[in-house]
Amino acid sequence: MELDEYRRIAAASERHWWYRATRALLQQTIVPLLAPVTPDTVYLDAAGGTGATGQWLAERAMTVLDDYEPFALGVARSVSDGYRPVRADLNHLPHRNASFDAVLCVTALYHRLNPDPQIVVDEFARVVKPGGLVCLMEPGVKRIWRSHDDVTHAARRFSLEDLRRLVRIAGLSLERSTGAYSFLVPPAAALSVLSRKAATSDASSSDVGRSGGRLSSVAGAVASVERKVLQHASLPFGLSVLAIGRKDVP
Ligand SMILES: C[S@@+](CC[C@H](N)C(=O)[O-])C[C@H]1O[C@@H](n2cnc3c(N)ncnc32)[C@H](O)[C@@H]1O
Repeated sequence: MELDEYRRIAAASERHWWYRATRALLQQTIVPLLAPVTPDTVYLDAAGGTGATGQWLAERAMTVLDDYEPFALGVARSVSDGYRPVRADLNHLPHRNASFDAVLCVTALYHRLNPDPQIVVDEFARVVKPGGLVCLMEPGVKRIWRSHDDVTHAARRFSLEDLRRLVRIAGLSLERSTGAYSFLVPPAAALSVLSRKAATSDASSSDVGRSGGRLSSVAGAVASVERKVLQHASLPFGLSVLAIGRKDVP
């Protein structure tokens, strides 16, 4: 990603509605599936960036944060004492087999650094302990393409089935899959058409810079209603898609 985008994320992660909502969504979805924390519990926030979506994991137990970008690692170090930042490439993780109780990966498989997302998910399946979880969250709706995708160096978006297939081919049992932020699909589709016409990709095209105002409060409130629905049901699509797999215990 562009360095300015990291600076925007670091500045916005506490107040931007999407980061607040995503941390709440991930906790609500993942925590009930995690084993109780013990002194040996270690998590991996893979491509954790500045820790904007995974810091709650580092507050539960020691969490290795892998990322390629040194600036992001520096920010993550200051975000939570529970983080152990490591400069690493997800395609060749510098960790032993069966090292982590859970692997979280939020918006990274979409990235140009990862020509074959299956290689990365196979790495997650290798480093997670038997019985542990691999949790993926990526941009959904393949046909939507916005200038935000250019700023964040996106190579692809995913259908829900794409994510499920990655989990299954990695040899994990699918525990949960769902769309999220379904209410953002119509406005994002409209923006996609408009940004193709305007063909702009300047810094203001990042979504992260837009954090204030009434629209953000409305989006945060609708996301909170959607989370209530997701406590009881899964959605077939969304501007984000999630899949959670568990490694079988031999
Ligand atoms: C959009 S950011 C997401 C960061 C964080 N997960 C979050 O939700 O805020 C994508 C991050 O993935 C990292 N990344 C993508 N592919 C990677 C790879 N193969 N190895 C290491 N880091 C990678 C980038 O450096 C960037 O920090």
